Amino acid sequence: METLEPFTLGWDISGVVEEDVPGVTRFEVGDEVYGMPFFPRAANGYAEYVAVPSRQLARKPAALDHVHAAALPLAGLTAWQALVDAAEVAPGDRVLIHAAGGGVGHLAVQIAKARGAYVLATAGAAKHEFVLGLGADEVVDYRTADFTRELKDVDVVLDAVGGPVGRRARSC
Ligand SMILES: NC(=O)c1ccc[n+]([C@@H]2O[C@H](COP(=O)([O-])OP(=O)(O)OC[C@H]3O[C@@H](n4cnc5c(N)ncnc54)[C@H](OP(=O)(O)O)[C@@H]3O)[C@@H](O)[C@H]2O)c1
Repeated sequence: METLEPFTLGWDISGVVEEDVPGVTRFEVGDEVYGMPFFPRAANGYAEYVAVPSRQLARKPAALDHVHAAALPLAGLTAWQALVDAAEVAPGDRVLIHAAGGGVGHLAVQIAKARGAYVLATAGAAKHEFVLGLGADEVVDYRTADFTRELKDVDVVLDAVGGPVGRRARSC
C-alpha cells in the first residue's frame, strides 16, 4: 500500500479545483467538487489541499455548502450502494431502515423515499420528528416497542445497527 508521509487522515472532501493537469476535461479551475478519493487507501483528506484523479470527484450540488457536501460521500454511498446497487429498491417496495436517525440511516430514508418506496423506520423517540420530516412513513421507537410486532410485509431491510437487530428483522 502506498504511504504518504506524514500520514494525514480523512477521505470525504469538498472544495474548489485550484489546478488541473493536461488531459483533464471533466472540471476546470474554480469548479466546486466533492468526493471520497482513494478510499480505503490514504487520501490526505483533512489537509488543506489534496491531489485527486478527476474521475473520483463529482460536481458539488449548488444547494449544498462545502460543510454539508463533505459530510455526504461515505455515509451517502453506504446508503446508496445498499438500497440501490444491492437491494434495487423500486417504487412500492416496503423498506425498513434501522437507526434511521443516524448518519447512514437519515440518508437512506431520503434515498428510499426518492425511489418511491414506503419507508418504515426505527429510531429513538427524540429523532421521530426528524425522521418523519425526511420522508419516513412510519417510525417505531426501538427502545419502547418491538419492531417485529409493529412492522410487517417488509421487502428490504437496511440494518445499520448490527447484532440481533438484523436477524430479528427477518420475521418482518
Ligand atoms: N457513517 C458512515 O459513513 C458509515 C459508513 C459505513 C458503515 N457505517 C456503519 O454503520 C453503522 C451506523 O453508523 P452511523 O454513522 O449511521 O451511526 P450514528 O450516526 O452514530 O447513528 C447510530 C444510530 O443507531 C441508533 N440505534 C442504536 N441502537 C439501535 C437499535 N437497537 N435499533 C435501532 N436504532 C438504534 C441510534 O438511534 P437514536 O439516536 O435514535 O437512539 C443512532 O441514531 C455503524 O456500524 C458504522 O460503523 C457507517
